[in-house]
Amino acid sequence: MRSPLKITAAAAASAALVGSLAACAANEPANSGASGGKTLEITSWWTSGSEADALDVLTAAAKSAVPGLSIDNAAVSGGGGANARQALAARLQAGSPPDTWQLHPAGQLKAYVDGGQVADVSQLWSDNGWASKLPKDVAEAQQVNGKYYTVPIGVHRGNVLWTNPAVLSNAGVTIDPKAGVDSLITDLKKIQSTGTTPVCLGDKDVFASAELLESLIMARTGADNWKKLFTNSYSFGAPEVKQALNDYVTILGMANKDHSALTWDEAAKNMADGKCAVNLMGDWAFGELRNAGKQPGKDFAWATFPGKEEVFDYVGDGFSTPASNLKHPDEAKAWLKTLMDPKVQTDFAAKKGSIPARTDADISSLSQYQQQAAAAFKSVPVVSSLAHGQVTTAEFAQTYSDAVTALNGGGSIDAFVSAMVQAQSSQLK
Ligand code: GAL
Repeated sequence: MRSPLKITAAAAASAALVGSLAACAANEPANSGASGGKTLEITSWWTSGSEADALDVLTAAAKSAVPGLSIDNAAVSGGGGANARQALAARLQAGSPPDTWQLHPAGQLKAYVDGGQVADVSQLWSDNGWASKLPKDVAEAQQVNGKYYTVPIGVHRGNVLWTNPAVLSNAGVTIDPKAGVDSLITDLKKIQSTGTTPVCLGDKDVFASAELLESLIMARTGADNWKKLFTNSYSFGAPEVKQALNDYVTILGMANKDHSALTWDEAAKNMADGKCAVNLMGDWAFGELRNAGKQPGKDFAWATFPGKEEVFDYVGDGFSTPASNLKHPDEAKAWLKTLMDPKVQTDFAAKKGSIPARTDADISSLSQYQQQAAAAFKSVPVVSSLAHGQVTTAEFAQTYSDAVTALNGGGSIDAFVSAMVQAQSSQLK
């Protein structure tokens, strides 16, 4: 196995590095596995403790499905995947893609389809009857114009507030998801008055603060208006969105000062270690905290992000294969089939903190948190994440990510709103 590449956004943008990566990839022989035979090269951004363990579940299952298979793990570190996607873009550009890569469905998938980069796997879907084994929304998210281009391995929830029970109790605070954002902010101020940092944040990779802001926007607008933001029928200049931006700036002011130097997993572990009271993060944090030996209910607890109504912020993970220059087609096909095995989905979820995408996967062995997430996914309004490029076009998601970076760097709320309103009219047609 190759050790995961570490690429900073700035370095990845440098033409020299991209050029050398591409050249390196192009020079690889077609069947470069240790066995000299069956190989599968996989790109993902799963490099944290829990992510790497969850990926191991998948590669072990693929190896049992294909005896003699050798795995080339081309993971690129950086939570949320911006670095991995940059490295992948260089590989695609050079005509030397990996055999399969991790991606989010819907908006992010569509960019690869529009670029002619991803293989149509509709035949595999119909041969295996997969559509009938998935919630309708999940199956649809894997399609573009009626054709399937990816397969889902799991469903994450983005808007979860992870909490430290001892710190909350010490401040005499109970987070009530139904009490809304104003009450949350009052609680955080109360914690601050006890001398403890209220919020742990690790936004070295900007998705972490983009996800905090999106949770606040959803909390203030509710699910329906969140969806309307992406059909340009509800404005990023609406009072509820501006309120969420004010909340965001207030909450950022209550976070650890070194947040831009920490990764998402470091921030989550700091919360469980009592360095702060709460951490907003997708439920991959559940997998990571358990991987670090933290006990649910004791070292950490959770609450749905407080808001005007309960919302499930859906972040899907899946894998696709390239439309051209696929080096190992049989192995890639076996990989996609392995991912859709219900037992594999359950075993993966146990490490990852997600829930299986398949409705027939047995989740009885999963944690109490995951049982609750699975129940919520069926019963509360489900929306898709912007911070993870799922709800709309990749271009608009990039505009949002850049606007969050500017805001974090001291940019004004007015500048954020104006960039987003402008993008709504020019990019969401
Ligand atoms: C998300 C992905 C998760 C998790 C997270 C942090 O984009 O859906 O599986 O890996 O990034 O890296």
